[in-house]
Amino acid sequence: MSLSPNVDAVAAGEFSETGVVPLPSSVYWRCTLGLKAELSAISSQTKLLFVPGVKGASEAAADLAEKLARDGGPKLTPAEAPEGKTHADIDEILFVSAEGLKKEGYRLHAAAGVTMEAGDPAGHFYAVQTLLQLLNPTGEKGALKPLRAGLHITDEPRFAWRGMMLDCCRHFFTVDEVKEVIDMMASLKLNVFHWHLTEDQAWRIEIKKYPELTEKGAWREGVGFGLPTTSTTHYRASDGQYGGFYTQDDVRDVIAYAAARHITVVPEIEMPGHATAALTVYPKLGCTGGPYEMMQKGGVFKEVYCAGNDETIAFLKDVLDEVSELFPSQFIHVGGDECPKDRWTSCSKCQGRIKAEGLKDEHELQSWVMRTMEKHLSAKGKRLLGWDEILEGGLPPGATVMSWRGMKGGIAAADSGHDVVMSPTTHCYFDYYQSEDKDREPKAIGGFLPLEKVYELDPVTTAIAENKRHHVLGAQANLWTEYIPNAGQMQYMIAPRIAALAEVVWTPQEKRDWPDFRMRLAAQLKRFEARGFNYRKPE
Ligand code: ACM
Ligand code: ZN
Repeated sequence: MSLSPNVDAVAAGEFSETGVVPLPSSVYWRCTLGLKAELSAISSQTKLLFVPGVKGASEAAADLAEKLARDGGPKLTPAEAPEGKTHADIDEILFVSAEGLKKEGYRLHAAAGVTMEAGDPAGHFYAVQTLLQLLNPTGEKGALKPLRAGLHITDEPRFAWRGMMLDCCRHFFTVDEVKEVIDMMASLKLNVFHWHLTEDQAWRIEIKKYPELTEKGAWREGVGFGLPTTSTTHYRASDGQYGGFYTQDDVRDVIAYAAARHITVVPEIEMPGHATAALTVYPKLGCTGGPYEMMQKGGVFKEVYCAGNDETIAFLKDVLDEVSELFPSQFIHVGGDECPKDRWTSCSKCQGRIKAEGLKDEHELQSWVMRTMEKHLSAKGKRLLGWDEILEGGLPPGATVMSWRGMKGGIAAADSGHDVVMSPTTHCYFDYYQSEDKDREPKAIGGFLPLEKVYELDPVTTAIAENKRHHVLGAQANLWTEYIPNAGQMQYMIAPRIAALAEVVWTPQEKRDWPDFRMRLAAQLKRFEARGFNYRKPE
């Protein structure tokens, strides 16, 4: 790459060499006479400055200092900029506020120094993530390189919801392992961590009012899913139990860690299906009264919460009360997927509820449960989010839909004025195989979702009426962990597909380009390596 001075170069192709992922919404180079062609390398002489009072600026400067030191660069100490300073001079990096940028947006100007402009703390944070990738594309220690003068980036996300779900029930992941995922998400400008916390196979979140949920419900006989005990570190040979859970302090710790990285943690408490762990602990909450057994295998099970039992409804509300208190997230995910109606059909309480509430059938009973929870949550200022099955039997008024069985549910929900997150199995299910040569891959649940297919997703389809497309909040990847008993395998399923997803949800659709992404991905793969994040090498 060589640019003559005083030449404007719109540099889509040339920018490929930088390895920045996701691709910013607007990039150009303008070299003007009188400027050095390149900045000198960031050195111990570089001043790291922030304008006092600019929200998020000092934190961003501190984050940059920490990461530069981590990468073997000079140890810089952030300092307040002198009054009136708006642009970085030579050998300076300056964080300032800016008008006219969208939420989470930023501008990065590399002239004599580097000026980082943003209108909010997330914008400053994302400016740092981009600068780090520019200064050290491979992420390796000691690999910092000079920044070319004349680079101007104006950047903002395409979507407000840039998510990743991790199922910590089928298999357990420690707080530190969860934080590693959060770190990777943040470096790629993802901002929603959807934490799947209750299931047939385990209940993972401490609920003070019902301590047995985790005392008993977080443990099961063996690793389950036919996997050997050696595949995980969470199996206790002493009593043959597998499991683990998050105390409320752990949860607060994860939320704070994520918040510092501009990631919202959205909890999922499954109902009325996928409830066997809770029913095993409290059999009276089911239609038959049990006994129930912790599930050891995957699938969709008939044992679900009894929707006719007032005690069950009170239990669910109690759990949501504690969860709403713990999580600052506006959205609370209540599952709603895969709830067989077999038990409800032959349960006198459920049939009684259908009659008393004037419901047509069991599908409307499911909808009644969702409506009841939606009312409960919205009275607390929270919003209910559920998988697309919550459309069946009627969508509660304020509900947001996560569309997983393709985009259909999302299209229908958006068309009827509901917010939507797209997460179709076809493009977003990271538990699917990454290659058709399955014998050479770790055992997975099935399917085939190569990197390129993830990249192909456009969350906004023309099938949605034009004036309803703003209801698509964004998209997310889901990692269900039936066959994923340890963090190394979990990371392997996430990376590098998470990089493709990041570009889907961040970069303007018209700027996205698969060959260009593949070029920039080469640096991203090195960054996975440098961060110790396991990944699959693409062909
Ligand atoms: C799902 O994959 N059952 C939402
Ligand atoms: Zn029942």
